[in-house]
Amino acid sequence: MCGIVGYVGKEQAAPILLDGLSRLEYRGYDSAGVCVGGDGALKVAKTKGRLSNLSEMTHGGGDLPGTFGIGHTRWATHGEPNDVNSHPHLSQDGRIALVHNGIIENYMEIKEMLLEKGVQFASETDSEVVAQLLQYYYRKTSDIFQAVYKVLHRIEGAYALGILCADKPDQIIAARKDAPLLLGHGDGCAFIASDATAIIKHTREVSYMEDGEVALLTADRIQVYNALGDPIEKERHVIDWEISAAEKGGYEHFMFKEIMEEPEALRRTIGPRIRDGRIELEGFSVTADTLRSMSRLYIVACGSSYHVGMVGKYNIEKLLRIPVEVQLASEFRYCDPILDEKTLVIIISQSGETLDTMAALREAKARGARILSIVNVVGSSIARESDDVLYTWAGPEIAVATTKAYSTQLMLLDMITLYFADLLGTVDEKTYRKLVTELQTIPDKLEKVLAQKEKIQYFASQYFNHDSVFFIGRNLDFALGLEGSLKLKEISYIHSEAYASGELKHGTISLIEDGTLVVALSTYGPLLDKAMSNVVEVRARGADVLALTTESGEEALAKNATGVLTVPDTAEMFLPSLGVVPLQLFAYYVALQKGCDIDKPRNLAKSVTVE
Ligand code: M6R
Repeated sequence: MCGIVGYVGKEQAAPILLDGLSRLEYRGYDSAGVCVGGDGALKVAKTKGRLSNLSEMTHGGGDLPGTFGIGHTRWATHGEPNDVNSHPHLSQDGRIALVHNGIIENYMEIKEMLLEKGVQFASETDSEVVAQLLQYYYRKTSDIFQAVYKVLHRIEGAYALGILCADKPDQIIAARKDAPLLLGHGDGCAFIASDATAIIKHTREVSYMEDGEVALLTADRIQVYNALGDPIEKERHVIDWEISAAEKGGYEHFMFKEIMEEPEALRRTIGPRIRDGRIELEGFSVTADTLRSMSRLYIVACGSSYHVGMVGKYNIEKLLRIPVEVQLASEFRYCDPILDEKTLVIIISQSGETLDTMAALREAKARGARILSIVNVVGSSIARESDDVLYTWAGPEIAVATTKAYSTQLMLLDMITLYFADLLGTVDEKTYRKLVTELQTIPDKLEKVLAQKEKIQYFASQYFNHDSVFFIGRNLDFALGLEGSLKLKEISYIHSEAYASGELKHGTISLIEDGTLVVALSTYGPLLDKAMSNVVEVRARGADVLALTTESGEEALAKNATGVLTVPDTAEMFLPSLGVVPLQLFAYYVALQKGCDIDKPRNLAKSVTVE
């Protein structure tokens, strides 16, 4: 979704803003713009399309002299992606400029009020309303800071705002509610940004803005105020990853780089949490008594993170014998969920900023539930608002299609499951030890899976021109299929569906015809025979079957499938951790064959910060 960057300092702002925006490109966008202040005026350049257009248009920012400014990549919500609807938006008198991430829900009502007073609007956006309302209150108060507070009291919805005022040179005002925004403390300069990737080149010291806060940035100081306008002190955090982690490093695509990083990412997730053969979860406050008093467990998330929860349900119910409900965050928040202080809600999110997931967390908290979150981005909103947070340590994930974050989330959820089983005594010591030993082998086994990439590429070259694909499986393989299917459709634009194999005969099998591709997931040993029967059924109706199974299942599957991919044998609960990688690679190579924009698929954003 929209990306924001702002700079105030001694250097020329425009090239810094353009570079910052280029690092936010991964969030997904359809237009971009910058506004730079200098000589008592604000100059805006903005355009539909790629950032390279903006860079060309401004000669790398050279046409916009000035030492303070704001930049924006827009993911359209209100109004089509075009030059006018792009940010920054100027007030009618051109004295105030603004960038916005989020949605102003009551913008129509405010717009009507301003129209009645003769204000003219240039765009169709909700965001421009904020710029015009600022001008309105600025004229009344002659104080831009006061005007900002008046606007914040008037608008409803979600926002991260960066504001410039021509009368206040060398100053940026920032405000936040329900949309990510951080402050960067530089040496003689200061920044605002949607996330750290935009500014890490310049500073590692950041403060995370909280809802209701307003910040005033000058080159030498950042002062933050609470919702009442009282000055407050903010904690400073140091970003602990290198800028190279957010660069391609010789790979053609971030997605491929991130798949290749999975073994290492898993080692970082697992390694520090095992001591003397036992799982230890840092600063984790859930006790055996809490667990025993729990009537049910919820897992709430969106997209791939939700699919992690779907895998987790099978493993948790099997090992803990506690009912698990996996819910989409966007549904959970509106379904009047049955929760109390005896409910544990596990929230899963790579970004830690997904708006629906954040809202679900708040809903659960308000109803007394205890929140444990699995998050990748350190210091993100979800991490900050949870009772307990466990980080996946996957490092920055740039490709829109998640890969290493999914794998580390899955592994961490498995580790939490084992930890709980140990606490509750629902797993015997011998089995526990065996599983903990086995989970430590997963990164090495994953290396073996990655070594098959040429074979996977070959199958992708056979099937890339199919326009409909079905992923079928039972139990853990069904949950795995959900992720395999999403991966394929989001980056290759091929229609695909995931089905529990047993459901095929209840309707879907009518879609199987000569040459339909069915990806038959058959890694789960106890149901291998059933999986085989489904393969035979779809083959009999003309389908091409690409099977994914374990090394020990290969011989059986090879008899009926058109092609077979394998993963090393492992304990059942860890099979999806291995099985997902061939599916990620398959999606990647199919999209590569089709010439798709793999890292930034159409219409998608990395971090979904609007409803
Ligand atoms: O950052 P989150 O984990 O909360 O994001 C959730 C989904 O938006 C995300 O997993 C999405 O489905 C991915 N693009 C899938 O690859």
